Parts: sequence; structure tokens; C-alpha cells
Amino acid sequence: MKTQLLTEHDIDTAAEILRSGGLVGIPTETVYGLGANGLNAAAVGRIFTAKGRPQDNPLILHIPDPAWLDRCCRNIPPAAYRLARQLWPGPLTMILQRRENVPNAVTCGLDTVGVRCPDHPLALAVIEAAGVPVAAPSGNLSGRPSPTCARHMLEDMDGRIDAILDGGPCGVGVESTIIDMTVPIPRLLRPGGMPLERLREALGEVVVDKAVTAQLGAGEKPRAPGMKYRHYAPKAPVIVVTGDSRRTARYIRRNLGEHTGVICFDEYAGQFPNCVIEAIGPVSDKARQARRVFDALRAFDSTDVDTIFAQCPGSSGLGMAVANRLKKAAGFRVVDLGEDAT
Ligand code: TXA
Ligand code: MG
Repeated sequence: MKTQLLTEHDIDTAAEILRSGGLVGIPTETVYGLGANGLNAAAVGRIFTAKGRPQDNPLILHIPDPAWLDRCCRNIPPAAYRLARQLWPGPLTMILQRRENVPNAVTCGLDTVGVRCPDHPLALAVIEAAGVPVAAPSGNLSGRPSPTCARHMLEDMDGRIDAILDGGPCGVGVESTIIDMTVPIPRLLRPGGMPLERLREALGEVVVDKAVTAQLGAGEKPRAPGMKYRHYAPKAPVIVVTGDSRRTARYIRRNLGEHTGVICFDEYAGQFPNCVIEAIGPVSDKARQARRVFDALRAFDSTDVDTIFAQCPGSSGLGMAVANRLKKAAGFRVVDLGEDAT
């Protein structure tokens, strides 16, 4: 299959491919998604083949307007409508009870479904034009870092999908925050582009699921099935170092080998001689770190590093999402040097 590269002028072509059961790479504000008609089980099945995605990992549906919620979900609590009103379009996925018209192929047989309204003009235009909810996981091969530009998506998907709509680099850079709204106290299943603090402002109490910060034990079942897989991983092993940035930099300097990669804050980029450096932004600029983290992880694959150390931001704001992606890339191999107050 030849993968076409489409531009903003090709919205109708992209929509037509979706309507006829094909696969299209779609830019969103978080990361590029691999879209298919979310009401067509055969089309959705092709997503799993193209990504090499495990069959037990459900997809989220993308809608262009909160008014479409009722087309995919039922028993929607008032708090979910409130979130939709306040925070959509935006990097937030809500888990809700599914309607029967949502195929098992999307939910992997669960009675819930993830729904989000992305904040990207091209994504909204394509979904509107297709006239159906669009199922879309991140557009990477399963296990790889999520793509934040069309070129990265093409690296993984060339020849496997019909087209990629190039909308330039993604503004947020990490995936949406996932919140389960089917339980009495809303539960954060994946930190992402919508900070936990914003959700607490809107909802009051929000519980953070254990899988966000720690590796689950052998018998433990994650509430977001995707959280159990090693993910975002470059080819070389990653070690995350948490704590105050001066201490983490010192620790990494002391442990450098011959072929070491370092993910660090900009302030420290000059401190690791003879290493491959990916600076992800100033200590205080978590929005920039979020935009850079997947590109940084991807960049090491074209080098000969055999170990990658990563400085890790504190957990406020977007730091929670950045830290989670780094730790997942490391398979939760973490050197903990104490609290980072940021
Ligand atoms: O920002 C995003 O969310 C991007 C863009 C393309 O929209 N999409 C994305 O999809 O990150 P994906 O498939 O890579 O991640 C979706 C996550 C997976 O961990 C999956 O297990 C979880 O959502 N999920 C989907 N449906 C669920 C459900 N009904 N209950 C719990 N978790 C669910
Ligand atoms: Mg993904």
C-alpha cells in the first residue's frame, strides 16, 4: 500500500478514505492519531494490524462536538457534561458507558468507551466531514514513542496506512489525560495534556490511579489496559533519575559510560561530556518539556548509545505527564534522589 501525504487542502479526501473503511493519520493538539471510522468494526480492526496493537487494548473515539457524546455513550453523569463544556475541545479523554452502536472492536468488549474532542482545526474538520466518530490511537507502532509530527508518523506507518494528513507539529506533545467518569469519585487513569489541577478545579476530588506512578504487580489489572505495556521505549534502556535537578545532574555525571545518552533540562546541557544530549527545555518550562519528550526518546535510535539517563520534572502541571512518559519508557527503572518540589 502506498501511503499518501495529504495537506489541509485535502480534508475531503481524508474524510472519504475514512468513510470507505481506510486508515488516515490525523494531527491533533496532543499527538498524531491513526484514525478509522469508529462505527465500522472492520476498519477499526485494521488499526490493530497496522500498529501491531495487542487485541485487549481499547481505542478512544474522537468527536467534533460535545453534542455527539450521546451518539456513543449512555448514562452520562452531569459532571461529564460539565467537563465537556469547560475543557473541550482539549487534551482530555473521558471514560463513559458505551452505547450498543459502538463496536466491540473499539472497546475490546468493555462496557465503557473513551471519548474526546480534540483541539485541532484539521482533526475537527475531518471528523465533521466524515460524519462519524473517529477511533484513533496514537499513530506509532505499538511500543514506540507517539508521533508529534507527520514525519515521525510516516517513519512508523509508511506502507501500512492509506494516508497521513500533515498538520505540522503538535502543540501539546503528550497524549490526552484520561479520566474515568463511570465511578463515584472520578479517577485519573493516564496523566496527559490536561493537568490534574484543572480537573480538580472542575470536579473537586479526583483519585490518581496507581498505574500512573508505579509498575503494577504481576497479578494486578490496570483500569486503562494500555497502561500495562512497556511503552514509548527507545531501543537502548532508559534510567530515570528523580529529585532536585542539581542532584540528578550530579548523579548522572558520576555514572556516565562510553556511549551514554542523556535527556536533560536545558540548563544542564553542557555538563555531560562525550554524551549524546537531548535537552528537553528549561527546568521551569514543562509545556516545552511535554512538546519535546517523545522526539527526544525517538532521537536516540539513530545513535549508538547503550544507556540513556533522564532528568525528571516534578509532578505539578504537565510535569506529571512528562514524568509518566519517561518512567514508562524506562519500564519504571527509577533512581529516586528525593523530592522535587516543582
Ligand atoms: O491524545 C490522545 O489521547 C491520542 C490522540 C490521537 O487523540 N490518542 C491516544 O490513544 O493516546 P492510545 O490508544 O494511544 O491511548 C488510549 C489509552 C490506552 O491506554 C487505552 O488502554 C485507554 O486509552 N482506553 C481506551 N478505552 C478505554 C476504556 N474504555 N477504559 C479504560 N481505558 C481505556
Ligand atoms: Mg498510544
